[in-house]
Amino acid sequence: MLVAVTRRIHKEELERLGEVAEVRLWDSDLPPSPSELQELVSGADGVLSLLTDKIDGAILDGSPGIKVVSNFAVGFDNINVPACTERGVAVCTTPDVLTETTAEFAMALIFSVARQIVPGERAARGGEWKTWYPMRFLGRDLAGATLGVVGLGRIGSHLATMASAFGMEVVYFDPRNEDSRFEKVDLDELWARSDIISLHVPLTDQTRGLVGGDTLPQMKPDAILINTSRGPVIDTDALVESLRSGHLAGVGLDVTDPEPLPQDHPLYTFDRVTIAPHIASATHITRRKMAQLSVDNVIAVLTGTTPPNCLNPEVL
Ligand code: DGY
Repeated sequence: MLVAVTRRIHKEELERLGEVAEVRLWDSDLPPSPSELQELVSGADGVLSLLTDKIDGAILDGSPGIKVVSNFAVGFDNINVPACTERGVAVCTTPDVLTETTAEFAMALIFSVARQIVPGERAARGGEWKTWYPMRFLGRDLAGATLGVVGLGRIGSHLATMASAFGMEVVYFDPRNEDSRFEKVDLDELWARSDIISLHVPLTDQTRGLVGGDTLPQMKPDAILINTSRGPVIDTDALVESLRSGHLAGVGLDVTDPEPLPQDHPLYTFDRVTIAPHIASATHITRRKMAQLSVDNVIAVLTGTTPPNCLNPEVL
């Protein structure tokens, strides 16, 4: 059996995979191009992919032996799941192991943006810290503020729990999940009432551009917007326009559209925007668990046992 692994990941997990299959590794920190990816997976029985690898019908048709695509991520918008299901290919992901880690990062962005940590640090480093300023770097208190959580799944729910411990009032929008500890509202009410808005939805046709030209004006002029889900959930051009007009007190983004964000992108010109390079799940322990789980998923499918997390179990 042959498993293509599209990036350098934990050595111990590659070795474990190597005990059941030959491993063909894209031995780099940078992703393969589409043609390199096609070549990498050719003849493979399984693929361990990253969120930067586009896995579609064409890739699968080029390598009809593939039985499993195991994504090293909880998100799977890089994979055409219906195309996989049609071809009997199992799609596996890594939920649960990154829930708290990702929610903690959303909380970190909330603190950072609300208290101007990055602009303050930039000023200190740039020699602008001349005295104790009574009127500079003024932020927002979290206690008493209203947090609007869009998507109360695992990560959104953990964030909501942490936020209420900090004295925030939590409202949420989620058509599927209920939690009586928090107030469920519709989206219009969430935009209008929230001092801080945090996005926790998968990227789908319904959520693409959810925050855009129609919704941004509904937010409070001094609202803070946080995104740790997927970049295209926000219409980037509309966000830039909104920021140019002076709307929003701050924005914290762990994900952007495009990703990575080009060095000359207008979003970098706003001091009140903090941008992180998609690192919300990046702790030693969590990334190791993601590696373990994605390897467990491949091994299970290829050895005919039930994988821990399969999106389309009907193909097994
Ligand atoms: C995911 O898992 O989908 C995150 O975006 C990266 O951890």
